[in-house]
This record gives sequence, structure tokens and C-alpha cells, in this order.
Amino acid sequence: MRHLLSLKDFSTQEIEQILSIALDLKIKLRQGIREPLFPGCVLGMIFQKQSLRTRVSFEAAMAHLGGAAIFLADDAGFGKREPICDFSHVLSEMVDLIMIRAKRHEDVVEFASYASVPVINGLTDYCHPCQALADILTWRELVGNTTGRKLAWVGDANNVALSLAFICGKLGIRMSIAVPKEYNFSDEALQQIHDNAPGFKLEVTQDPVEAVSGAGVVYTDVWVSMGQENEKAKREHDFAPYQVNSELMSHCPEAYFMHCLPARRGFEVTDEVISSPQSAIVQEAGNRLHAQKGAVVWLLRQK
Ligand code: CP
Ligand code: NVA
Repeated sequence: MRHLLSLKDFSTQEIEQILSIALDLKIKLRQGIREPLFPGCVLGMIFQKQSLRTRVSFEAAMAHLGGAAIFLADDAGFGKREPICDFSHVLSEMVDLIMIRAKRHEDVVEFASYASVPVINGLTDYCHPCQALADILTWRELVGNTTGRKLAWVGDANNVALSLAFICGKLGIRMSIAVPKEYNFSDEALQQIHDNAPGFKLEVTQDPVEAVSGAGVVYTDVWVSMGQENEKAKREHDFAPYQVNSELMSHCPEAYFMHCLPARRGFEVTDEVISSPQSAIVQEAGNRLHAQKGAVVWLLRQK
């Protein structure tokens, strides 16, 4: 049995398998085929934070696969009402698979250590693996082969950026990040990025123009992630020079724009860029459904 907590725990071949299942099921869905690969299978979904894409994509994915999903919001009491070990043991008795969006990554790791069914990380403060799978699926649909191409991240070195660094490392994609010094990855995370794919060189700069030059994708995310609301004023000030706008995109005219969403238009990205023909955000968000299916099917086949 395997969990999907971070893409650094997955080999290149395993990531390719997940992406391949995702693409196959997406093509079939377009043909009107919804194969009930796992009839009656139930996914438990724990949410400690808000969600649109993650919740709906997992729920729809389970319905398409012939199963069902149960949404557990804060009133289920994760991390509050009973010890994590009890929560995990009990939920494992009742469902076939668990997805969890938690405030603290350590809680998800602890939860998974007690679970007797596969656990999927649906976003923590540390990383967001499902998002990165959907992102690469999208980029490949747009350009075919992504090997050797460059993804530029502009903004906070956050959970989404870390998962992208892991997947880029595993898939031979170059990555450059423009980030204010104090918001760069921690030394520990930089070490993990290196260990994840020795030979992968993450370029780090404070210059957004340098980062986007030669890039095939320019990616950004909110400056204030969920849970960082008390740092809002400082972050908005510090990240102001890192806005993705038309001037910045003029340095990489061939690049697509990507964002995990939700976006704050006028802050990390202008309306003009996010609504431009270069913007891949809708396809990217839609691909969460297919990436989720790839992950679910892959994990259930390992059981
Ligand atoms: N990108 C993403 O995970 O969106 P939600 O927060 O809406 O799930
Ligand atoms: N970095 C954002 C991503 C949301 C999908 C957050 O953690 O809030």
C-alpha cells in the first residue's frame, strides 16, 4: 500500500504512470466513457481549509469511477476532537481511501502512519502534489514534450512551488524561481529538492525578468496563502515587485501563464495576463479532475 503525501516519495516511472492513467481516463471521458473501475469504493475527504477545485475534482472523480466521496469539514473535529491515531484508525475501517487537506503537514504524516488505506495529501503548508500533477498534465497537452523546458515560478516559494520543484526534478524540467530572499525555500527544503533529483538545478534569483527569460511557463500563486492572513500587509508590500503583468510576460512571449487558483487579480497577477490567450488556468483547473483520477486509480491498484 502506498500514500501520496509528497511527490518526492515517487519515482519518475510512478509519476509517469499516474499521468498516463490521468490522460487515458480524460480521453475516455471525452468519448463519453466513464468506466466504473472501482464500484462502491469510498473516499473520505478531510478539509481543515477551504477548497473549490480539490473538493469538487475528487468528488467528481469518485463518481466517475463508480464510487463515492464523503466530505468531512471542520465539524468532524480533525486534530481537535480526538487523537489523530484514533481518527485515522476509525476512518480507515470505513473507507477505501482518504484525502486530507490539513494545516500542518506533520499531521498528515502522522495520520498516514496509522492509516490502513492509502492517504492523499490534498494540500498542506508544505506541499500540494495533486496540483503539480495537474499542472504537468496541462503543460504536456499544450506543448507535447516538456523535457528540458523551463518553468519559471514568480513569487512565494510556497507549498505549490515545492511540489512543482519535486515534479520538475523527477521529469527533467528546468525550473527557475524569482523570489525575495526571505521567502525562498528553507535550507531543508532546498536539500530535499536536491535529494529528490540529484542533478536537478533549481535556479533562484530575485529578478523576475531573469527567471522568465526562456521559460515555457510562467507560474505564480497568491502572496498570502491560507493560514498566513496575519502577514498580509507585509507580504503584499514585499511581493509587489514580483507581480506577473504584461511587461514581465513580454520577456517570454511564447510562455503560457499558469496559476493553481484561487487568484487575487491585481496582486500576484494582473487581469490582463490571467485573462489573456496565454493563460492556461481553466484547462489547468479542469485537469485537477483527471490528475486526481490518475492518483486514485494508481493508489487503489497498489493495495
Ligand atoms: N488549487 C486548489 O487546490 O484549489 P482549491 O483550494 O480550490 O482546492
Ligand atoms: N498556496 C495556496 C494554494 C491554494 C491552492 C495556499 O496554500 O493557500
